Amino acid sequence: MNRILVSALAWGFPMLWYSLRVNPAPAPRSAKSPACWRPQLETGLGTIDQQHRELFEALARLAGDLEAGASGALLDEPLAALARHLIKHCQTEESLMKEAGFPGRVAHANQHQEVVLQVRDLQYRRMKGQAVGREALADLGAWLEQHIGEADQAMAGYLKALHPV
Ligand SMILES: [Fe+2]
Ligand SMILES: [Fe+2]
Repeated sequence: MNRILVSALAWGFPMLWYSLRVNPAPAPRSAKSPACWRPQLETGLGTIDQQHRELFEALARLAGDLEAGASGALLDEPLAALARHLIKHCQTEESLMKEAGFPGRVAHANQHQEVVLQVRDLQYRRMKGQAVGREALADLGAWLEQHIGEADQAMAGYLKALHPV
């Protein structure tokens, strides 16, 4: 082994160890930040996609306010906006599924009811003076991503097959 290699090994490993200890890799933001809308969530149904974007925007606004230190009554408006967007969106999808006779509509609507209850629970906890946790928002974002990726895509596939563009 030549001298340069020996010296690189002798200094390189301790320096690497030191630098990892001093500058540990930052924790991934996704651990606590809500999910964002991304093109993979596109269903191909214009109204639905627009509403999904608005939902993620409402969630991001609430998370941003929380991150900026907002608490108490300052969170009421962004929470109410999120609830409004969510309820309007669920109604839109449920009407479309009913009109089209989508066979999975009851199970799908039950999932909607579950997420609306999650947001209502956040509002209730806020009213009782309890903190709105960032983790609850991250859970909500993850729920939305999964629901859109599975239930909404299945619904969109059915609707598009009924009314091909
Ligand atoms: Fe849905
Ligand atoms: Fe949806």
